[in-house]
Amino acid sequence: MSGTARIEISAVSHRFTDKPVLREITATLTERRIAIIGANGSGKSTFSRLLNGLLVPDRGRVTVDGLDTARDIKAVRRKVGFVFQNPDNQIVFPTVAEDLAFGLKGLGLGRAEREEKVGQMLARFGLEALAAQSAHKLSGGQKQMLAIAGVLITAPSCVVFDEPTTALDLRNARRIAEVISGLDETAIVVSHDLDLISDFDRVLVFDEGRIVADDTPGPAIAHYLRLMQ
Ligand SMILES: Nc1ncnc2c1ncn2[C@@H]1O[C@H](COP(=O)(O)OP(=O)(O)O)[C@@H](O)[C@H]1O
Ligand SMILES: [Mg+2]
Repeated sequence: MSGTARIEISAVSHRFTDKPVLREITATLTERRIAIIGANGSGKSTFSRLLNGLLVPDRGRVTVDGLDTARDIKAVRRKVGFVFQNPDNQIVFPTVAEDLAFGLKGLGLGRAEREEKVGQMLARFGLEALAAQSAHKLSGGQKQMLAIAGVLITAPSCVVFDEPTTALDLRNARRIAEVISGLDETAIVVSHDLDLISDFDRVLVFDEGRIVADDTPGPAIAHYLRLMQ
């Protein structure tokens, strides 16, 4: 796989308690680089979790290339990967290499092919020297790289990132920005980092569970800055 995914969100509403968190959202996402910005609590993470079926909406429908996230969850997860804000939520295996290999389980690959793919990912993300090291001893920046590598190794056509640089220092944030900018895959990125998203194709601005602006970065960021005044 790889290439692009077409994600359709149709009349989606969601609430965890009495308060609606997403209100009647409809959007079709096809661009290669899409950003999601908005105030804390505006529903960005909830929305992003809908896109690969981590969350199924109370009302409405989400489809990925025509597959309903409420029904075809396995196929949806193969198409859309998800990188959490905190990489500790993503890293499950003791060593760096084992953690990467885990993502390939169930894809029907032979051992040699799995090892080759793991080797390629380690090299791509500068983690070769750390292959046998405990994943939980990595620095924050290295953990985020491993988390991204662990998603990319499954060859999704789209990757959703929820605030991938928020916990990182400037150097590591820049590295992650470079990784995102170099991806062949579609990227949908929730972020407060306005530099990171300044050259994206499309920016969705969230406010109280609604998309209040949907535009190129210039006008969308201007809308967001007005909201924040
Ligand atoms: N699992 C949950 N249970 C209850 N409330 C939640 C849950 N997840 C999010 N919320 C609430 O939904 C609202 C939107 O949250 P979220 O989508 O995380 O916003 P954002 O990512 O924009 O900060 C917030 O009021 C938050 O407290
Ligand atoms: Mg969030």
